[in-house]
Amino acid sequence: MTTAVRPLIAGNWKMNGLAASLSEAKALAQALAEQPAATDVALCPPATLIAQMAWQLKGSVVAIGGQDCHDKQSGAFTGDIAAQMLADAGASLVILGHSERRAYHGETDAQVAAKVEAALRAGLKPIICVGETLAEREAGRTLVVIESQVKGSLPAPLQGAPFAVAYEPCWAIGTGLTPTLAQIEEVHVAIRRLISAQLGESGAVAPILYGGSVKPDNAGEILKVSEVGGALVGGASLKAADFLGIIRAL
Ligand code: 13P
Repeated sequence: MTTAVRPLIAGNWKMNGLAASLSEAKALAQALAEQPAATDVALCPPATLIAQMAWQLKGSVVAIGGQDCHDKQSGAFTGDIAAQMLADAGASLVILGHSERRAYHGETDAQVAAKVEAALRAGLKPIICVGETLAEREAGRTLVVIESQVKGSLPAPLQGAPFAVAYEPCWAIGTGLTPTLAQIEEVHVAIRRLISAQLGESGAVAPILYGGSVKPDNAGEILKVSEVGGALVGGASLKAADFLGIIRAL
């Protein structure tokens, strides 16, 4: 990681969390107020909790993010949420192109790119996810897949805008499996080369997060890998103590 890259550790709560879970977010904010982190920190709760969490964590260092947004500003899209609505509720970031969106909602690179543009228009910082499936890795296609996802999902308006990329191998998500440190480094270095070539200076300084079964006990070694600029954490971000264990590993 070059010194110009400001790391980010973000928690993706996915479809987990009720109002009672806000106590975890408050405990996290409190701990970080008492002992500041060496990284930017964000929580991406389900959309139903964004406004309440933003309110309760007002003034804290914990940024709030959405987990998806629509590419249009408004309209007849039942169940969808516009980027501007996330911002209006108190979010400053949004995860886009997560593999669960790609797999269960059929999101394509082009759709992800359109959502990224919508996020930028709303003033949100996108965290754009890429990652290969197990079949793709076993077929030796990892870098080809990553290259095509990066090219297709990161549109030109990201030049000059703050953003992050998350490398999340699909087979490492929620499985307890992680790539070797060498495999993580290989992909992160490739992503850095691609986004720098594609997006210039903003691509050179964007943090590249690793995601997939990051836990307090493996975070230290993963976060030291070259070009790993933080983490996108699922299960281990639900409890303040676990998430803090990851944050403190940096
Ligand atoms: P886990 O940390 O639960 O493997 O999830 C990773 C992830 O998908 C974060 O976006």
